[in-house]
Amino acid sequence: MITTTIRQIGRHEAQEARVRGWLYNKREKGKLQFLIVRDGTGYLQAVAFQPEVPPAVFEACQRVTQESSIEVTGRVRKDERAPGGYEMSLTDLRIHQQAHDYPITPKEHGPDFLLDHRHLWLRSSKQHALLRIRSEVCQGIRDFFYEREFVLIDSPILTPAACEGTSTLFETDYFGGKAYLSQSGQLYLEPACMAFGRVYCFGPTFRAEKSKTRRHLTEFWMVEPEVAYAELSDLLALAEEFVEVLVGRVLDRCGTELKTLERDVAKLEAVRRPFPRMTYDEAAAILSRPEVAARARAQEAPSFVPGDDFGGFDETVLTETLDRPVMITHYPTALKAFYMQPDPRDPGRALCVDVLAPEGYGEIIGGSQRIHDHDLLLERIREHGLPVDSFRWYLDVRKYGSVPHGGFGMGIERFVSWVGGVHHLREAIPYPRTLNRLYP
Ligand code: 4AD
Ligand code: MG
Repeated sequence: MITTTIRQIGRHEAQEARVRGWLYNKREKGKLQFLIVRDGTGYLQAVAFQPEVPPAVFEACQRVTQESSIEVTGRVRKDERAPGGYEMSLTDLRIHQQAHDYPITPKEHGPDFLLDHRHLWLRSSKQHALLRIRSEVCQGIRDFFYEREFVLIDSPILTPAACEGTSTLFETDYFGGKAYLSQSGQLYLEPACMAFGRVYCFGPTFRAEKSKTRRHLTEFWMVEPEVAYAELSDLLALAEEFVEVLVGRVLDRCGTELKTLERDVAKLEAVRRPFPRMTYDEAAAILSRPEVAARARAQEAPSFVPGDDFGGFDETVLTETLDRPVMITHYPTALKAFYMQPDPRDPGRALCVDVLAPEGYGEIIGGSQRIHDHDLLLERIREHGLPVDSFRWYLDVRKYGSVPHGGFGMGIERFVSWVGGVHHLREAIPYPRTLNRLYP
């Protein structure tokens, strides 16, 4: 007997085959039992017809419950109406373990209940589809950089100092001293790009975010390329190619998943280079229009003040008329991290970029050119009140063959929730960590 996966079942058309999985759902109609089986690769309807199967098998079909682990055997039939294109005429059913009172039922559950049952919720079709997209995106990221001759440099998780501001640091005891969980691998990639030219890291990142927004996790995955001899324009070109390629890959390979999520794929198909660009000052001018301020008041959103960072409402306004991401450059240096290169023509502005996704998803990428002058960097470290001693090694990069360089970081959950069309970031990671969640 051939054991196959549901995804590959078409290879066994008109043959007898076996699938191992779990009972997703069940219906009955007179002498027929319709078992929907899932095995992680797809869904298959197995139909038992009472006169054609042994009585014990039919009885097992009647008795089996949602999420019981089962093995179904039967003849594979082509069926145009079936989601995967095939059905099974069941001849045998083996129940490995009968599940009792599976807590997630087809009725509606609240988000807290579902998150408390995340270990089971992973089995639900939408969650399953979204995490499959995540897996495809992660593979796409690795392939993208591999094909472009980037070298993978894993950055440390335990670090002696802050990268993205001290307010979101997770502190931990380190043999009587202090260590912090990594907020970004960037500082470690800068020396590495001087060794390898083009590098990237891709790993877990931690921010002690005290905010409860749908866009913030305390643990998330970030991919960060870093390139020597790169200026802002090179980073913009890399970022838009990166996003276009990854969206294209999901469209090519995750059609079934996007359908399960009821994602409007036309919106993703529009994501083609070039992406529109605007400076912070241009964006600020849009947000300062009286009609925008009036809308903010009507929605009780904080109204934008020039010189401030953009809030959720502002990001939505900036992207709502666009069908692809927008790249906003030249933010005030005061808003941004200590390492960003000031614009030589306007030192109050940084050579940086935020990429905002359309449809209200907000910032998916943040990046910049880095300060390559030793003395200016030292000055900035001091101005930000950072411990100079912890940054000696970082300053060294500016002492031995310094060149303009830069990179960016993309949060995987931000990207995946946008592409999947899912409102909240917590569904785009297998086990979300937020201000008030560390379980399961
Ligand atoms: O803009 P951020 O803070 O930039 C950096 O960390 C740079 N050091 C990256 C670099 O240049 N190498 O974060 C980059 C991205 C954001 O655009 C967002 O997608 C994601 O990381 N991100 C978060 N995702 C989920 N939860 C959070 N709390 C996040 N904070 C940032
Ligand atoms: Mg940012």
